[in-house]
Amino acid sequence: MRYIRVLPIIIGLSILFGLAFSGLAVAPAFTSSITEPSVGLVAYSLSEAKGRQIYAREGCVYCHSQQVRSVKADENLAMSFGVSKSGDYYYDRPHLLGTARQGPDLSNEGQIWRRDIGQPARDYLIGHFINPRNYNPMSIMPAYDYLSQQELEDLTDYIQSLGAWKIPQSPS
Ligand code: HEC
Repeated sequence: MRYIRVLPIIIGLSILFGLAFSGLAVAPAFTSSITEPSVGLVAYSLSEAKGRQIYAREGCVYCHSQQVRSVKADENLAMSFGVSKSGDYYYDRPHLLGTARQGPDLSNEGQIWRRDIGQPARDYLIGHFINPRNYNPMSIMPAYDYLSQQELEDLTDYIQSLGAWKIPQSPS
């Protein structure tokens, strides 16, 4: 008698799993926000794309996230930069969202260390990559002093591109 109940349970679970899978995995792939880039987002330049590869290779993603969520913990980030949308990641394949924040979220780092403020921002970023302890004595971020000058430049281009496209362009 007891064994007869197993079949409905298996069928029930399969239906539940199927519904969850279509809702979470299949449906989002067809929504327009994921197939269209966010307004203002531009493709990476060659050096930014190279920097992105270095970012992935060096494991920056293990300590830095690139996502602002609509949850209480991200309230301040959301207030300053807005919540991330799927279209923000249009050119990120694979994405580098990250799941941990040993260091700060970097999705808007290009707004903080803007290109248009010139050398101080670049000098700071490169100097910080070479040895974070020179700027924050207690920093646990590894020193990337073994990267070549070109790699440091590309990485900096990439970091300065993050979220920079959200800065409103003044009509010229
Ligand atoms: C072991 C964890 C860890 C790894 C790996 C790591 N970081 Fe960090 N990062 C941190 C921490 C902690 C901070 C905050 C303290 C500081 O500024 O050094 C930070 C800060 C930063 C900042 C912000 C600096 C500022 O003052 O605004 C940038 C940009 C950054 N990291 C980029 C990178 C890049 C690029 C990589 C990979 C090449 C990387 N991080 C790898 C932990 C890490």
